[in-house]
Amino acid sequence: MWDRDQEGVLAARLKSMTLRQKIGQMTMAERLFASPEDVKQFALGAILCGGGSHPGSNSAADWVAMNDAFWQAAVDDTDSPGIPVLVGVDAVHGHGNLRGATVFPHNIGLGAVDDAGLVAEIARATAKEILASGLEWNFAPALSVVQNCRWGRTYESFGNDPGRAGRLGAAYAKALQEEGVIACLKHWVGDGGTWQGMDQGETTLPWEELEATHVAPYLAPLADGAMTLMASFNSWNGDKCHGHRFLITELLKEKLGFEGIVLSDWDGIDYLDKDYGAAIRKSVNAGLDMFMVPERWREFIEKLEAQVREGHVSMTRIDDAVSRILRVKLRYGLFDAPRPALRPGAGESNFPTAPHRDLARRAARQSQVLLKNERQTLPLKRSQRILVAGKNADNIGHQCGGWTVSWQGENGNDTIIGESIWQGIKALAPSAVLSENLDGADADPNHHDVAVVVIGETPYAEGHGDIRQGDHLFVEAGSMINGLMNPLEAYGQSLVLAERHPEDLACLERIAARGIPVVAVLISGRPLVTSREIAASAAFVASWLPGAEGRGVAETLLGIHEFSGRLPLPWPGPEQTDGVLADSAAEFPAGFGLQSNAKVVDRAAQVAYKMA
Ligand code: GLC
Repeated sequence: MWDRDQEGVLAARLKSMTLRQKIGQMTMAERLFASPEDVKQFALGAILCGGGSHPGSNSAADWVAMNDAFWQAAVDDTDSPGIPVLVGVDAVHGHGNLRGATVFPHNIGLGAVDDAGLVAEIARATAKEILASGLEWNFAPALSVVQNCRWGRTYESFGNDPGRAGRLGAAYAKALQEEGVIACLKHWVGDGGTWQGMDQGETTLPWEELEATHVAPYLAPLADGAMTLMASFNSWNGDKCHGHRFLITELLKEKLGFEGIVLSDWDGIDYLDKDYGAAIRKSVNAGLDMFMVPERWREFIEKLEAQVREGHVSMTRIDDAVSRILRVKLRYGLFDAPRPALRPGAGESNFPTAPHRDLARRAARQSQVLLKNERQTLPLKRSQRILVAGKNADNIGHQCGGWTVSWQGENGNDTIIGESIWQGIKALAPSAVLSENLDGADADPNHHDVAVVVIGETPYAEGHGDIRQGDHLFVEAGSMINGLMNPLEAYGQSLVLAERHPEDLACLERIAARGIPVVAVLISGRPLVTSREIAASAAFVASWLPGAEGRGVAETLLGIHEFSGRLPLPWPGPEQTDGVLADSAAEFPAGFGLQSNAKVVDRAAQVAYKMA
């Protein structure tokens, strides 16, 4: 898989490097905490642009200028090994950090489509926008297999099926790398299987189940030649993944033959030990090769050098890590690449292009899952007097969710190019009207034949999206692991939508009480307990986080395209407030989805659901 000639080049470079330069290559700093001069002086191996971290006015030209400066400094070999620096970003549903980038549905919606070809198209479009920014590395795809939808990162998964995660994740990674962007499979391993869905928590499973559910999705993308992989914050059976020698070295590197870079997550090594030197020693010796140490990277370099000099970390391990880093850079062609400013497409500012927006709209449309449709409420007719209401009806930020322009996502229509669901409906049905305060108080059966009410969650990312009751859970989760936990403030305490967002049920019931049939459209990063909202609605659509092209949602509501999405995981019933995903007690099983002409999308799923 690797060009043996490059191995010769690799060995020669390695031999010429000092210990400090080698450790520099093992270091990834965040762009705000390292200058081009630092990259040169310390021979830093990589720079990351964290969620929402963008240069200048956040134009493609600003991104190129930034990466060009890092590049020029890195390759200047006066008193430096002159090794090009990699720059990475979380372009998890399009190049979300870049203002004006195309914003696609998050993975949970792509799981509802379950089309590897579509995922590959999205990866290619995303790669073009990443390369236009002068970047080389995307911290995606997530191969997470969610097991409890209280997890705040449910929407970054393709659902709860390992086969789908592997199939779609492999399609994404392969297409991304074919377009010239390095993929990063994450998070290794078991991130979606934590106790009570606590982000960064404890995944307690026998090896056979961990392998079948959480390791399995990595096999195809690894076989396809994925070159980097990110360790997970969670622990497995009490031991943190960031310090897990079996998972990283014995399984991934030795048994599965992975020859690329294993990257830590954001300060993920901190949780191994209160003593930073000990944490570094444990993680390096477990097999991590590159360290995402955004701010404290200088301390990391100092302390790792001390660990080597004191004999706690061998030069063999350091040379293995640096060989992997050089191998990826050689394999990717980084040493022969032109500077970012001279690369094809660099600085292109015509994003989002029409073809990319069309693709995002198609993906949004195909991800819609119709769960209920009484009295043929859907599809709507353009001649109907349509009232549009709900807090998420006219909010591109909310329909995009986290990892969009900012880490935790945006509110409103000003910072993302696209169309809200309301704007999409209005474009297709010009007589539609928007409820003045979005709350449906102006609903009037004399003027409105039907209402579309867009409800649901507001944006979040990572642990800030967790659903969690009480702080005792931190203690319990913490007591289950050898190391530290750092849970972020949760999104809420209940998966019951009417408890977390009572304004939504109030809006639905206010309009329905006036005799106007309601079509509920749920914006959410996950299934929620929505039995009361479904009961109050004539039709109900799971819209997930459809991205910036709200017209795609409107096209299914208005029958321009038929519903085709199917649940990528079970939809909880009224009693299933614990988030555990099981078809048995589900309101709707995985695979369920209706067409608006009342036909079923998938006969097998409906038969399983006893749809006679
Ligand atoms: C975060 C996430 C990881 C992301 C990284 C860089 O903590 O866990 O998915 O790639 O930091 O932003």
